[in-house]
Amino acid sequence: MLSEKIIGIQKEGERALSSIKTMAELEMWEVKYLGRKSELSEILKGLKDLASEEKRVVGPLGNAAKESLMKAFEETKETLFENSIDWERERIDVTAPGTAVPRGHLHPITLVEQQIEDIFVSLGFTVVDGPEVDKEWYNFDALNIPRDHPARDMQDTFWIKGEEKNKDRYLPRTHTSNVQVRYMEAHTPPLRIIIPGRIFRNEATDASHEHTFHQFECLMVDKEGVVSVATFKHIAETFFSQFFGKKVRIRLRPSFFPFTEPSFEFDINCILCDGKGCPVCKQAGWLEIGGAGMVNQKVFEAAGYPRGKYQGFAWGFGVTRLAMMKYKITDIRLMMSGDLRFIRQF
Ligand code: DAH
Repeated sequence: MLSEKIIGIQKEGERALSSIKTMAELEMWEVKYLGRKSELSEILKGLKDLASEEKRVVGPLGNAAKESLMKAFEETKETLFENSIDWERERIDVTAPGTAVPRGHLHPITLVEQQIEDIFVSLGFTVVDGPEVDKEWYNFDALNIPRDHPARDMQDTFWIKGEEKNKDRYLPRTHTSNVQVRYMEAHTPPLRIIIPGRIFRNEATDASHEHTFHQFECLMVDKEGVVSVATFKHIAETFFSQFFGKKVRIRLRPSFFPFTEPSFEFDINCILCDGKGCPVCKQAGWLEIGGAGMVNQKVFEAAGYPRGKYQGFAWGFGVTRLAMMKYKITDIRLMMSGDLRFIRQF
C-alpha cells in the first residue's frame, strides 16, 4: 500500500514539474512535494511506527523517491534560471571601443631634455645631476668669477635670506655650470658629460625672460691636444642636426666668459628659413643659441687638476629656448605657468 503511494507521489511530482514555467510555480511545487508537511515527508516521518519488515521495503523506496524528486527539482531550477536570462542583453561585444582612461604625459621641457639626453648618450656622454641650491664657490668663484668681478652682473642672482653675510654662501644656482667643478673634483679626464637642470635668475619677467628656466651644460675634457674647438663644432653640429632632424650649421662669434678661454657665442642657421632670412631670425639667417669655449685653466685648477695638463670645451644654453623653438612657443612664461590648457597640448 505505502509503496504504491510513494511511487504514485513520485510520478505525479515529476509530471507536475514538467509543466512548470516560472520560479513562483516551482516554489509552490517544492512545498508540495518536498516540504516538511508534504505527503512524502509525512510517510518518511512515520517509518519508525512501521513493522520492521515493511520498514525495510518502504524506507529505501521513500528515500529514493525523495532524492529523485530533489534532483529533478534542482535541474528544473537550473533550466528556469537559464531561460530567464536575456542573452542578447548579456552579450559582450568584444569589438566595442573601451572607455578611455585618462593618461598623464610629459612636460615639453622634459620631452626636450630626454631627447637631448638620448642624442648625447649615443655620442658617449654621461648625464650628470647637480644641486639646484649650491655654494657660491661652485656657482661663481671656482668658475673664475670672484665676488667683486663685474662678470657677476651677467647673471642676476637670487640671494637667500640670512645667507648674505656668510662666507661660504648658498644660493639658487644661476646656471648649470655649477656642476663643472663639482664633477671634476671627483673624476679625472677623459670625461664627457652633460648636465641638464633648472636654474634661477633674479629677472623681471616678460615673453622672453623668466626667473626659473632650464639649461643644459656640456663638458668634454681630455689630455692636452685631444679636444679642440673643432671637436666642439663637430659635436654641436651633430647634436643640432639630430635634434632638428636636418642638417644644421654652427657659427661661432668671439665673446667673453670668465670660465672659458677663448670664449665664443654660437649660432645655428635658422631652422625655419634654412639661413635665407625670415621674421624668426630677424632676416639674419642665424639664431643665437648659447655660450661656449675652451675651459679656462683656472677652472681646472679650482677642481684640483694641474695647470696645462688637460684641455676641453664647455658649453651651455637654454633647454627652455630650444623647447620654444621646437614647439614654436612664443611666450616663455607659459612653460612654468602650470596652465593645463597649455600643458595638455603636448
Ligand atoms: N653659464 C653660462 C650662462 O648661463 C652659459 C655658458 C657659457 C656655459 C659658456 C658654458 C660656457 O659652459 O662655456 O650664461
